[in-house]
Amino acid sequence: MSASVSRPRIVVCKPVPSAGLDPLRDTCDLDIWPGPLGMPRPELLARVVGAAGILVVGDKVNEELVDAAGPSLKGIAGFGVGYDNVDLPAMTRRGIPVGNTPGVLSDTTAEVAWALLMAAARRITEAERYLRAGRWGKGDMNDLMGVDVSGATLGIVGLGRIGQSMARLSQGFRMTVLYAQRHRADPAVEAELRATYVPFEELLERSDFVSVHAPLTVETRHLIDGAALARMKPGAILVNSSRGGLVDQEALLVALDNGRLRAAALDVTDPEPLPADHPLVGRDDVVVIPHIGSNTLATRVKMGRMCSQNLLAALGGERMPWVIDPAVYS
Ligand code: 8YV
Repeated sequence: MSASVSRPRIVVCKPVPSAGLDPLRDTCDLDIWPGPLGMPRPELLARVVGAAGILVVGDKVNEELVDAAGPSLKGIAGFGVGYDNVDLPAMTRRGIPVGNTPGVLSDTTAEVAWALLMAAARRITEAERYLRAGRWGKGDMNDLMGVDVSGATLGIVGLGRIGQSMARLSQGFRMTVLYAQRHRADPAVEAELRATYVPFEELLERSDFVSVHAPLTVETRHLIDGAALARMKPGAILVNSSRGGLVDQEALLVALDNGRLRAAALDVTDPEPLPADHPLVGRDDVVVIPHIGSNTLATRVKMGRMCSQNLLAALGGERMPWVIDPAVYS
């Protein structure tokens, strides 16, 4: 009688594009949750029992998850670059490698930030609603007047990979690019992007467009608060494609209501999904879309492949190529 060898089971918390998971299919059993919203927590905790790996899509990664999985768990792959959903110290303590997918989504996400910037500046979504409502030809010629992007000043908060890509996209528009972050970027990066390092307050005061690309951490939560918004140039536009938690949305609504800001354009919100009756939805001065920054098939497949590589490495006892808690290996 031949002994049956059971294949490691990987729990996949959302139906990510299938091709990205192909590298896993030869050697692993994939348990893919089909629902659009990700697994309800109790379902997730039940499914991971005995799993060798988990692919999370924004799901909370903490001791509870590791405990639920048990000693079979070898690693967790996050489908995305941001990892504010991960309790890193806990993962390091528990010796669980966690990976992410940096690089492949930078241009894709910056393109969405750019689309948001343009949409808000030239009132594109509002203009389409105007047309659909049959108002074309019935209003004033000054309806839907926008602001120029070419030659304006762009302030980038967080000049990481996505912020850098945003700066690159702005070059065709001959923009002045300012950036703020904790540490000054490499001089070669500054030179290539023609980006000037300024204090955060100065960036707020001088920018016509402020685009947020910083990770969400304890320090950056509500970085764009009432005080920051009050410092922004009157009539400026705020773009956020990072994490909703970076912006104090109550304060944002106040700044829009009192006319300090001209518009806001958001790919990310707090909470997500944002209910359709949320005060940010339905305003002409807010463009808000459902966190689609990395959502092209090519990019999502690349992200899936990186997750697969991270998991295969963990299952084989090797270092994950894109590990976010490298201390697990020391
Ligand atoms: C999401 C993201 O992970 O990379 C990130 O940090 O926020 C996105 O790529 C992806 O949209 C799945 O929700």
